[in-house]
Amino acid sequence: MTIKKIELAPSLLSCDFGHIEKEIQMAVEAGCQYIHWDVMDGHFVPNISLGVPVIASLRKKCNIIFDVHLMIENPQAFIEPFQKAGSDIITFHIETTDNPKQIINDIKSKKIKAGVSINPYTPIESVYEILDSVDLILLMTVNPGFGAQSFIPEVLPKIKTLRNIIESRNLSFLLEVDGGINLQTVTEVLDAGANLIVAGSSIYHSKDPKKTIQQFKEIFEKY
Ligand code: DX5
Ligand code: ZN
Repeated sequence: MTIKKIELAPSLLSCDFGHIEKEIQMAVEAGCQYIHWDVMDGHFVPNISLGVPVIASLRKKCNIIFDVHLMIENPQAFIEPFQKAGSDIITFHIETTDNPKQIINDIKSKKIKAGVSINPYTPIESVYEILDSVDLILLMTVNPGFGAQSFIPEVLPKIKTLRNIIESRNLSFLLEVDGGINLQTVTEVLDAGANLIVAGSSIYHSKDPKKTIQQFKEIFEKY
């Protein structure tokens, strides 16, 4: 299996929130194209993180793709504020809506990319109806809500299934994975076919985050 381009999206959830600009700058200097924002509402997930004003403030200072992962109920109501804040990709959870196509259309009508995320134990069939219209599928490899949890290997067959669908139907959406990804588990998700890799604690809690990013990139080059 050949995956053309693999990218890393460091998750800011594990960074020093007192120095977010510096933490993003570190990722830019290490050659990352993406930065991953985790937005939590205390309802869809049992945690609260950050929201529109923080993202808007950093948008003015950083030129990197803002990959915004909404772990919130009623995502439809928040598409416009997050687009205006400067998101390049908005990803919402399939578990939060009965009308994903409408939300995807709303996001795309704002000339940004639309992603759909799916929890580890939600059946993969729940995203089948939107595969033709989406720019990105985000497979959670932990239960969402917190950084630094352990990778759930039961998600690997889902990654393989989606990679097979992409290839057999000649689709082009990004296949993103998020949760428990480190320099060991990353090979499993790459073998399965993921091509956008979120990593939070394994980068920002490491002694030398730039070096860790470099090590991820060296692994990517083997694929
Ligand atoms: C979890 C978030 C993740 C999280 C990943 O709910 O969606 O993006 O930051 O953190 P690690 O890489 O530490 O599992
Ligand atoms: Zn995330």
